[in-house]
Amino acid sequence: MSRSEYSDNRMTIEDVALSGKRVLVRVDFNVPLSEDGKIDDDFRIRATLPTIECVLAQGGRPILLSHMGRPKGKRVDGLSLAPVRARLEGLLGRKVHLAPDCVGDGVEEMAASLGPGEVLLLENCRFHLEETENEPGFAAKLAALADVYVNDAFGTAHRAHASTEGVARLLRPAVAGLLMKKELEFLGKLLAGPKRPYVAILGGAKISGKIEVLKNLMDRVDAILVGGGMANTFLKAEGVEIGDSLYEETVLDVAREIIDLAETKGIAFVLPDDFAVADEVRPGTRIRMAMREEGAAGGYIADIGDKTLVGFIEHIARAETIFWNGPMGVFEIEDFSRGTLEVAQSVAAASQGGAFAVVGGGDTASAVAKANVKDKITHVSTGGGASLEFVEGKELPGIVALSMKGEVQP
Ligand code: 3PG
Repeated sequence: MSRSEYSDNRMTIEDVALSGKRVLVRVDFNVPLSEDGKIDDDFRIRATLPTIECVLAQGGRPILLSHMGRPKGKRVDGLSLAPVRARLEGLLGRKVHLAPDCVGDGVEEMAASLGPGEVLLLENCRFHLEETENEPGFAAKLAALADVYVNDAFGTAHRAHASTEGVARLLRPAVAGLLMKKELEFLGKLLAGPKRPYVAILGGAKISGKIEVLKNLMDRVDAILVGGGMANTFLKAEGVEIGDSLYEETVLDVAREIIDLAETKGIAFVLPDDFAVADEVRPGTRIRMAMREEGAAGGYIADIGDKTLVGFIEHIARAETIFWNGPMGVFEIEDFSRGTLEVAQSVAAASQGGAFAVVGGGDTASAVAKANVKDKITHVSTGGGASLEFVEGKELPGIVALSMKGEVQP
């Protein structure tokens, strides 16, 4: 099966009758919360509204299932889905009940007695260790709550957990929700003969979690532009003085290997030529621009520099296909946000000019929102790690578990 077929031919919510059915919808409501428990960004909640509305419009009874954070099998009050319940109720304009747990007698009763037009949100499934262990008994308890399984959690599709994979094996057909469908349509185009030049822009803090992605992407793209904290490790590996900037000592050799691999494969692997060096990583600190030969002695690299930005923008303007994951600097602090916001602007301009541009990842989605260009980009994915693994060509367990169109159902 080719990569695009793997994601193209899955059954969707449009292929099943939902009237009167209890519909277990796996959503990704893992949204950023501020310290006082307020939702900082509800993009992921809004993105699932079409699926929830679709279930309700057909007379189905939605039972929503999600994780929040990484509570590692313990009940953590700060990771309850209670704030999500309130926000969802406001967005849907109808009652949303929050179950005290996601499995157990009380929850089964709530699911069974859910009335027409009502919505039930189950409590954080990662309060149970069995969720991340994909324990079959736990998956069976989830499956017992409903008649139909819908997976709309693209952001968690790279995890083989009970709520994304185990339950889909038990409750057939297992179908994609409208958000999942949309994500597969757009991201699938990056795998199925993307127009060249294809430019990947990668940033964010670390390379350690992205080594495989970087290597695999080299077989797919023409250029990789690297910014953010992860660029520091590459710069250090090239012998650049990075001052007090964070870098990953343990992967310096791998960084060198990646640079060499790009050369062997004839890929443009573009590291910053210059950077903004801050005395401290806080607002209002002293900032100077430094070329890579000058280095960042005594300071922290907090953003890409002007020359780098011009080079990145040239690559982006020439691209027919763009994938961007990870900010170019500490963009949450205004003083260091220029590189990220200008990259966002140029990705939007390229997209408006006809390039196919996909942005993935929570931080990157926030950056395009901050730059006011979210609506000008072909597709902003709700997936972070999931979108990266997808574009590098890996088959995601949450997608593999979905029923194929035409598959004989039990
Ligand atoms: C994400 O935010 O990328 C998803 O919700 C998955 O979360 P996880 O990395 O904790 O599995």
